[in-house]
Amino acid sequence: MAKKITLPASMEFYQDNTKLKWIILVVSVLISFGSIYYTNVLVEQLKEREKQQVVLFAKALEYTLVNDDGNIVFITDEILFKNKSIPVIWLTKDNEYQYVNIEMNETWSEERKNAFLRMQVEEMKDSFDPIEIVLRDDSTGEIFGKQYVYYKNSFLLTQLIAFPYIQLSVLAIFGFISYLAFNYSRTAEQNQVWVGLAKETAHQLGTPLSSLMAWVEVLRDDPEIKNKGIVDELDKDIRKLTIVTERFSSIGSTPVLKDENVNQLINNVVGYLQPRVSSKINFEVYTLSETIQARVHAPLFEWVIENLCKNAVDAMGSSGTIAIKILRGSDHKVFIDISDTGKGIPKALIANVFRPGFTTKKRGWGLGLALAKRIIEMYHEGKIFVKSSEENQGTTFRVELKSA
Ligand SMILES: Nc1ncnc2c1ncn2[C@@H]1O[C@H](COP(=O)(O)OP(=O)(O)O)[C@@H](O)[C@H]1O
Ligand SMILES: [Mg+2]
Repeated sequence: MAKKITLPASMEFYQDNTKLKWIILVVSVLISFGSIYYTNVLVEQLKEREKQQVVLFAKALEYTLVNDDGNIVFITDEILFKNKSIPVIWLTKDNEYQYVNIEMNETWSEERKNAFLRMQVEEMKDSFDPIEIVLRDDSTGEIFGKQYVYYKNSFLLTQLIAFPYIQLSVLAIFGFISYLAFNYSRTAEQNQVWVGLAKETAHQLGTPLSSLMAWVEVLRDDPEIKNKGIVDELDKDIRKLTIVTERFSSIGSTPVLKDENVNQLINNVVGYLQPRVSSKINFEVYTLSETIQARVHAPLFEWVIENLCKNAVDAMGSSGTIAIKILRGSDHKVFIDISDTGKGIPKALIANVFRPGFTTKKRGWGLGLALAKRIIEMYHEGKIFVKSSEENQGTTFRVELKSA
């Protein structure tokens, strides 16, 4: 049975966000369909009207062909020439093409014009059945010929059919650009907060730290305290605090990358973490060569590895194995795979783990991986991702760096 995951309050904001996105999506789809449907209704009405016009046109044509009385002028002027929008082609009984509202290049030869008209007729046949004109002698009732009137949608109607699609595309492009712009400004704002907070923290830690260092020196000179090992312990903690300060100040500025021995840096982190976690947690470091170099900023890179290892420890509870593999890839790349034997990440949540504020822990801040991503992607131009994760089996994170 699937385990129920209760998400802490800090995650609600993501769920609300997705809900809002769904609402916007559904509303946009409804508006799109509504507007396409409504235009279709208009198009159908207009089509019907155009058809009636062509039928009238055909009747008038028939009349002029059969009769030659005084009404003809009225009919030709009022009906035949009044049609200024619907393209119509008809074939006289001598098999000659006649047309209205067809754009014809007058410089073409007669042959070319006919070929063009034939093509048009084929096209028209596909959209509407032609209207038949029966030529019948009025007095005898004898049929002396048949003609066909072909037509297609007027330009106006064609435009109207395309209109909602064009309009919706323009709106979609506009929406997309606004979304990008909005996202960009939001990211820029978030960046400022990150950087500002980090700088401020480093700055504030600096003063008490230097005074602590001075105090340690004073204590070192005190014969009573000197031999109790206290000073050395204090010194270690101060060194750790100095590293933390350095990390914060590096993330607030553009750190300079150097060629570093990755094994060395990872061993530093493992050496620091091992005594601080349960003794039932094993750290294993595998490497193909002792001298794999990468371009990194050591304090920030160590921070990333530390965060990944701490998450691994959290995922495993009291016992398990953290395996760190340092690999050299093609294309001047270095891979660092950190695997644990912990509870794994549910498939649905993998996409969220790097988001700031995402955590499944009671006391979590959800900033560890967000920070790691920022450090690897922005400062090292590398990659960090969940390589694999299996529930109750374990997770592997991969960091990709450029080698020296
Ligand atoms: N190795 C891992 N195994 C299982 N889940 C993990 C692992 N690493 C990260 N996660 C998940 O990603 C979330 C975010 O991690 P992180 O950004 O470090 O924040 P935090 O550790 O404060 O929760 C964690 O709460 C956890 O659900
Ligand atoms: Mg963490």
